[in-house]
Amino acid sequence: MTQTEDKSTVNDTPFVPIEKIVSLCKRRGFVYPNSEIYGGVAGIYDFGPLGVEMRNNIRRYWWWSMVQNHDNVVGIEGATITHPRVWEASGHVENFVDRLVDCKKCKRRFRIDHLAPENLEQHKCPVCGGELTAEPRVFNLLMETYLGVVEGDRMKTYLRGEACQNIYLDYENVLGSTRMQVPFGICQIGKAYRNEVTPGNFLFRQREFEQWDLQFFVHPSEMQQWFDYWKQYRFEWYKSILNHKDRLHFREHGSDELAHYAKQAFDIEYQTVLGWQEWEGVHWRQDWDLSRHSQYSGKDLSYTDPATKEKYIPWIVETSGGVDRTFLNLLLDAYEEEPDPQGKEPRTVLRLHPWLAPVKVAVFPLQKNNAELVATAKSIHKSLQRLVVSQYDDVSSIGRRYRRQDEIGTPFCVTVDFQSVEDQTVTVRERDAMTQSRIAINELPMYLLERVTWK
Ligand code: GAP
Repeated sequence: MTQTEDKSTVNDTPFVPIEKIVSLCKRRGFVYPNSEIYGGVAGIYDFGPLGVEMRNNIRRYWWWSMVQNHDNVVGIEGATITHPRVWEASGHVENFVDRLVDCKKCKRRFRIDHLAPENLEQHKCPVCGGELTAEPRVFNLLMETYLGVVEGDRMKTYLRGEACQNIYLDYENVLGSTRMQVPFGICQIGKAYRNEVTPGNFLFRQREFEQWDLQFFVHPSEMQQWFDYWKQYRFEWYKSILNHKDRLHFREHGSDELAHYAKQAFDIEYQTVLGWQEWEGVHWRQDWDLSRHSQYSGKDLSYTDPATKEKYIPWIVETSGGVDRTFLNLLLDAYEEEPDPQGKEPRTVLRLHPWLAPVKVAVFPLQKNNAELVATAKSIHKSLQRLVVSQYDDVSSIGRRYRRQDEIGTPFCVTVDFQSVEDQTVTVRERDAMTQSRIAINELPMYLLERVTWK
């Protein structure tokens, strides 16, 4: 994996308010509130034309690094509904709960694990100082659903509360249908559903969201070594796509905050206007999952080493992150309003990594009423479109067209001018440094591919 250069000039820029990102996302078609014409649904969003391109790029880069580049990792895509016993075995029916207290005065509701110790001890609301209810109320986060149509024969089950459960369910099938041997990993990207009591901060805490998981199965004696490997690999992965690399760190979970399945856990956290927040969890799940599913299903999920014939339940290293949180964090990391040297309106620019930007190139004729320039620009756009996402734009001045592309993070703009029709070259303008180079039209595909394709 190559890393982007440190852009020290942007490291001390102030944090971007979430509202700026929400507004940009709606205005330019990255993200829309779900069911907006009906008033919306808290914690549920839809992705628009640019959002879906960027999201696909983020997913593909993860899959490329984790699956395609590791001989000992394969991928699956599981269903979002499973047998209900899965969630008993996983511990979610019993343990996947939020404990909440209410303020008697301002009626706000708080998760007790989000309250400061002094608020808890004094039963005081952190917002208005009012009295908090003494006994926390317990809410299970699993979303219920029903299979079957006949009342009485319907089976209650759950939309998956964490995507990774399919990996444990398919572990034996993967072993039986591939040449994988322990140590090996299974990856998946997929939706998860949680009845979050306090969804909020845009894409940060939603009720329907997407996770990417690696579950890596190891011999217990090799657990520490693989845990360290994946912990570091995931950290470097995030660093490779950030401008503000100094806003990333690890935080180890204290024993009081470990999830019911985890023996040890580190969060990769990123600092934004929301403070330091979890982006991905690296969990030492030990033998919890395969042991529990063996116990609840009655199927022995232990592994027999083909060389030594040793039989054991593999231990698991999990790396579990959020696609939506990645999407949001990358926008918060990339957004900048740059003052204009001539005192005009500031330039809004998304300094997205070119690998992840939704549109890779925009092609402009210098003048829209010159048939030759328009025909050349359209033909360049058509040929580039076969390789990367390209946009053709001939509306308003070149300066305005640059601004429109800067705001959505397009790394390269190509302008066809009068010289182009004479010598078959175009101007390529780069988003961040705003430098312009003269490139031969027939060299454009290689020029772009080298810069927008991950390596
Ligand atoms: N299988 C382990 C697991 O699910 P988690 O820490 O609950 O662990 C993993 O979730 C990642 O999923 C988080 O680090 C976060 O990026 C993302 N995530 C969790 N809950 C989320 C929510 N309500 N909205 C958006 N992303 C969420």
